[in-house]
Amino acid sequence: MSIKMKGKSLIEINHLTIEEIYQIFELSAALKMKQLAGEPHRLLEGKTLGMIFSKPSTRTRVSFEVGIYQLGGIGMYFGPNDLQLNRGETISDTAKVLSRYLDGIMIRTFSHQDVIDLARFGSIPVINGLTDLHHPCQVLADLFTILEKKRKLEGLKLAYIGDGNNMAHSLLHGCSKVGMDISIASPSGYSPMKKIVEESKVNAKEFGSKIEIVDDPIQVVKDADIVYTDVWASMGQEKEAEERKKKFKKYQINQDLVKHAKEDYLFMHCLPAHRGDEVVDEVADSPNSIIFDEAENRLHVQKAIMALVM
Ligand code: CP
Ligand code: NVA
Repeated sequence: MSIKMKGKSLIEINHLTIEEIYQIFELSAALKMKQLAGEPHRLLEGKTLGMIFSKPSTRTRVSFEVGIYQLGGIGMYFGPNDLQLNRGETISDTAKVLSRYLDGIMIRTFSHQDVIDLARFGSIPVINGLTDLHHPCQVLADLFTILEKKRKLEGLKLAYIGDGNNMAHSLLHGCSKVGMDISIASPSGYSPMKKIVEESKVNAKEFGSKIEIVDDPIQVVKDADIVYTDVWASMGQEKEAEERKKKFKKYQINQDLVKHAKEDYLFMHCLPAHRGDEVVDEVADSPNSIIFDEAENRLHVQKAIMALVM
């Protein structure tokens, strides 16, 4: 199987076809095997990836930079104060200039529209490394990890408990596309965005998945194959953290809650975790938890994405 993805940007999972998603997974598995066997796989020899970060990062920064290096290329990091963007240069001028030097751009920022514009005005592929609206690389790595552990995706049930944020949005797109059922429980006022739920319902119809958005955590965890959560206050929402702590209290993943899931459920979290808030150590460090395999797979899946689009 070989579907041409060269030059394609990855802005949200819904822009990928199911064939492209499985092509990413196949190459991820192959590159992971090569990496673990110590075999060279320099598919991007001499290429340069620009990495723009307006928000902090551990996993995304390190996995992209190590990933492009292992593929034979080089990563160039731009922090919040490095580019003229932060002194008012437009996104379109920045996109046009960077396209003359680089082979690809990975960007983590606030506004999702900025990522769309970077791709629209530039002529090189742009990879979304998280916006306020989506985190597609994380969810592709998550689905790949579930596939490794469960040997299938279709028909599984993922329960997401917590904020209807960028993670919830990309999980909605991703699960509904691969035929996984997704049930989300959020406190009132913190549900995922209606537009993204509607887009996911269209996927669900095509790919035979079910979508449920409620406020009862026990209801969604019931018979779940995967229990997923994320921080209650995302980057940029620090001022709301105390208020959210109160509102999300009942949404903590603890032993009382996970006993409603299937016996062999998997616990997942994109990380960073606020242990003691959205998840307790007893779950995060339990044999059901695959959070570090999930984090590792960011590397392998993003290498596949870069190799395919750059
Ligand atoms: N999950 C994730 O994207 O982690 P970082 O914020 O550390 O990159
Ligand atoms: N929702 C979190 C995800 C971090 C990877 C955030 O945006 O901060």
